[in-house]
Amino acid sequence: MRVLFAASEVFPLVKTGGLADVAGALPAALIEAGHEVRVLLPGYPQALAKAEGKRQVASLGDPLGVGGETKLISAKLPQSGGAAGVPVWLLDCPALYDRAGGPYVDEHGVDYADNPLRFGLLSWAAAFLCTDNAPVKWRPQVLHCHDWQTGLAPAYLHAWKVEKPPATVFTIHNIAYQGQFPADIVSRLGLPWEMFTMDGLEYWGDMAFLKAGLIYADKLSTVSPRYAREIQSPAFGHGMEGVLTNRAADLVGILNGADYGVWSPATDPHVVARYQPPDFIDGKAANKAALQQALGLEKDQEAPLLVIVSRLTDQKGMDMVLSTLPAVLRQGAQLAVLGAGDRALEQGFQSAAAGSPKRMSVTIGYSEELAHRLLAAGDMLVMPSRFEPCGLTQFYAMRYGTVPVVHATGGLADTVMDCSYDGLVTGTGTGFVFEHANAGAFQWCLERAIAAFGQKDQWRRIQGAGIAQDFGWGRSAARYGALYDELVPA
Ligand code: ADP
Ligand code: GLC
Repeated sequence: MRVLFAASEVFPLVKTGGLADVAGALPAALIEAGHEVRVLLPGYPQALAKAEGKRQVASLGDPLGVGGETKLISAKLPQSGGAAGVPVWLLDCPALYDRAGGPYVDEHGVDYADNPLRFGLLSWAAAFLCTDNAPVKWRPQVLHCHDWQTGLAPAYLHAWKVEKPPATVFTIHNIAYQGQFPADIVSRLGLPWEMFTMDGLEYWGDMAFLKAGLIYADKLSTVSPRYAREIQSPAFGHGMEGVLTNRAADLVGILNGADYGVWSPATDPHVVARYQPPDFIDGKAANKAALQQALGLEKDQEAPLLVIVSRLTDQKGMDMVLSTLPAVLRQGAQLAVLGAGDRALEQGFQSAAAGSPKRMSVTIGYSEELAHRLLAAGDMLVMPSRFEPCGLTQFYAMRYGTVPVVHATGGLADTVMDCSYDGLVTGTGTGFVFEHANAGAFQWCLERAIAAFGQKDQWRRIQGAGIAQDFGWGRSAARYGALYDELVPA
C-alpha cells in the first residue's frame, strides 16, 4: 500500500513530544511490513538542517497567498533507531516556517499568530499531493493524518470533490489540542462556506482543524484502546464526544509502540554504562551513581530515585507531584525532573529543588541525552497523567528496568500492570497504578512503590517483568495495515 503520512513533527528532525516518535517510527515499521510510506512535514529550519539527501522536486507555488513560494523537498530521515532512511517530503516555505522558536511557539512560548496558515498549508499540501494535479508521480492510496495540524487535509479533499480520492485516516494523538480559530479563517484558507456548518467545520462559532479531521476522514484512530473509549465521554472528549460517538463505528484504538533501536540500554549511546538485560543490576547502579553525582544529589543507592521526563502541563498531573513532594522526600526518596512547559509548574519545581538540592534536581528544557540518562538511572518513572492518550515514556522506562508509577488512564492503563497482591504472586505486575486522579491516591501509590523498592528480590522481579514486555512497533504496524486494507481492498 502507498501511504502518505502528514504530521507536524517527526523524530529525529523535530520533536516536542510523542507524536514525533510515532511519525518517525511507525512509517519505518510499515515499510518493514512491505508498505511504501512517505512522511510530509513543514520545512522548519532544524528539520531542513537534519534531513539527509535533500533535493527539490517541485514548486507548489503560493496556494494560500502567504507571500512566498513553497518548494517541495524530498529527503530521508537520518540515522536514529528504526526510522533511518524513511523518505520524507519537507515543505520549504520560509514565509511560514523560517522562525527562531519551536514548531508551534516562539522563543517566549507564545503560539505563532499565523499557525492556522502554517498548518493550513501543511493540510493543503497533504491533500494536493494525493490528487492528479500534484507535480510528482508518486500517488498515495491512503492519506494518514495526525492531530489537529493536519485535520484540514480530508476537508480539502472533500471541498475539491476529488474524483478518485485517497482513503483517509485521521489519528488523534491528543484531543485536548484542537486548532480552534475565528471563523474568518475558512475563506482565508480557501475552503467553501457551505462546509461551515454544525456537521462540518463549525465549532462553537469558530472553526476547528481537529473537528474537520473527525468529520471528513474515512476512518478515525487513536493511540490506545482505552483512550478510544474515554474520548467518547464528556470527561475526556474535550467537547468532541458528540462528534466521536456519531463516528464510533469508524473509530479504533491502536496502541503505539516503542522504537527499541533508540530506546535500549544495551545500545544507548547516551548512557554512562550500557547494560544488557537480563543483567541490569550493576548497569543501573552505575548509571544511578553517575547521575546522582552529575545532578548534585546525595550519592546513595538505597534512596529510591524517582524520575520524570515530561511536558510540564496539567495533563501530566505535575501539580499532584508538587503537592506530594514533601511527603515523598521525607521518606528518603530522590526526584530528578526533566521537562518544560507551563511557566508556573516550571517555577514550582525549581523552587522545590532549591529547598532540597541534595534530594531533588530539576532541569528545565529539552534534552534527548538527559532523557535517556534519567530513564537508565531511575528506579521509578513517575507519570500521574490526568489523561494520557498512550504515553511512550512508560514503554521506554520498562525496557530500562525503571518501574512506572502511573494513573489508570488511557494508554497507561492499557500498558502498566499493577503490582497488586495478584500481580506480585503471578509475576505479571510491571508497575504501580492508582485509580483516582488526586494527590492522596497518588501519594499512597508512591508509598506502595517505595515500600516494594525496599524488598530487593521482589523489586527485581517487577523490573524483570517490565523488561520482558515487548511493545515493539511490529504489532501496531500490522493493525494499521489491516485498517488500510479495509479502506483499499486489494
Ligand atoms: P506526550 O507526547 O504527551 O508529551 P509521550 O509519553 O507520548 O507524551 O511522549 C513524550 C516524548 O517526549 C518521549 O519520547 C519523551 O522522552 C520526550 N520528552 C518529553 N519531555 C522531554 C524533555 N524535556 N526532554 C527530552 N525529551 C522529552
Ligand atoms: C500525544 C499524547 C501521548 C501519546 C503521543 C503519541 O502527545 O499526549 O499520550 O503517546 O501523542 O501518540
